[in-house]
Amino acid sequence: MPEIKVEPVRRRVRISTHSHIRGLGLDEKGHALPVADGLVGQREAREAAGIIVQIVKSGKMSGRGILFVGPPGTGKTALAIAIARELGEDTPFVIMSGSEIYSSEKKKTEILMEALRRSLGVRVREKRLVYEGVVKDVKVRKIRHPMAPHLAIPREARIVLATKDEEVPLTVGEEITEQIIEMGIRKGDVIWIDAETGRVFREGKAKDYVEAKTYDVETKKLVETPKGPVKKEKEIVRTLTLHELDTIVASQRAMISFFGFTFEREIPPEVRRDVDEMVRKWIESNKGEIVPGVLFIDDAHMLDIEAFSFLTRAMESEFSPLIILATNRGVARIRGTDLESPHGIPLDLLDRLLIIPTKPYSPDEMREIIRIRAEEEDIKLGNETLEELVKLASETSLRYAVQLLEPASIIAGESGREEVTVEDVRRARQLFIDLSASVRYLKDYESKFLK
Ligand SMILES: Nc1ncnc2c1ncn2[C@@H]1O[C@H](COP(=O)(O)OP(=O)(O)OP(=O)(O)O)[C@@H](O)[C@H]1O
Ligand SMILES: [Mg+2]
Repeated sequence: MPEIKVEPVRRRVRISTHSHIRGLGLDEKGHALPVADGLVGQREAREAAGIIVQIVKSGKMSGRGILFVGPPGTGKTALAIAIARELGEDTPFVIMSGSEIYSSEKKKTEILMEALRRSLGVRVREKRLVYEGVVKDVKVRKIRHPMAPHLAIPREARIVLATKDEEVPLTVGEEITEQIIEMGIRKGDVIWIDAETGRVFREGKAKDYVEAKTYDVETKKLVETPKGPVKKEKEIVRTLTLHELDTIVASQRAMISFFGFTFEREIPPEVRRDVDEMVRKWIESNKGEIVPGVLFIDDAHMLDIEAFSFLTRAMESEFSPLIILATNRGVARIRGTDLESPHGIPLDLLDRLLIIPTKPYSPDEMREIIRIRAEEEDIKLGNETLEELVKLASETSLRYAVQLLEPASIIAGESGREEVTVEDVRRARQLFIDLSASVRYLKDYESKFLK
């Protein structure tokens, strides 16, 4: 059975609490609809964001970035995600916090450089070597987690892929197995696996696969079972990020020089230069085009002077994503200096940023947002419960109220109820306290701890 080598899958984006957001919810004239695309209120900020999307689409954003300023829980992250959604399906979107640049293993600028290159896509048309077919069988083998023996982790999978003409059993490693589980791939799905990178793609469900369960409402596209061999060349249009290209090139070179050992990577600068050169050639020969994505840095006041000047330079360069910063701080010290400045950001960078404020929500708006979140998570709330959560959001924060939905629904489920009650919310609130309560809690105990 052939083994397929893979590169690690991209870091999973942490946007689960924003999964209800589909776009900016603007009409043709760019006016914000009261509730649309999962967004509620915050109309001026949404309209401003809509103008940014137009500027980016017309390619005129270079040398500039965006800064969202507003109190916690006013939708700064939500709006950044909405912008990325508006820019199109294959637009790369990278989300990080300013504090992530402080790591013991990598240099600050290396971390930022990688984030930048993850947020720049190249759309290419190319022939790839793939394994393609309808899934006839899939079995996952799990092993005990070495550090946590009570956990079973997927180790490898055996899949049988079939075309109209042949059937091939494959053994795939952890990375592919993880994707198979995450994508919920089942018998009857038509998939292809990139032989080189191990990325898995689902095309749909085989029309003529008899064993495949069919439901009255089928969400998957029905497709023909492929013909010919399972392993073949296929013309594919896809968007790769510059970081993915860096990784592929770097690991190929590492393999040549180290006989199959690949090392935990810090990408060498010459690899990046060569990748840039290659991409430039693709663009010139119309084989590829740049897809500028979005790099969103939350808590931007956590960045330091070195990081800020790196970002300022990045905005100027030939390939640059849309850089969106967000902060909830007013005047603050610029890290790495003794200087104070608005939002802790140096003036030369501030000069290049279009600033969009976000405002606190009214109770009506918070009610609507909590309602949408509950619907998104499939949680049933009575009116009274909804009001309790709105009250909670006003007293603590919207984010806290949104986060309590899930535990409250588990508490309801444990008592055999489908609908979440006011008591469930109060119980969840006792178990998981909000930020100001946790600070008070430690203050109360501090004197005891220090004695
Ligand atoms: N206008 C909106 N419409 C719909 N959902 C929203 C809106 N604003 C915020 N939300 C949701 O409310 C929650 C809190 O918002 P978000 O995390 O975006 O706030 P933030 O301004 O980034 O806060 P912080 O300063 O703490 O980072 C999230 O689940 C978000 O998706
Ligand atoms: Mg945020």
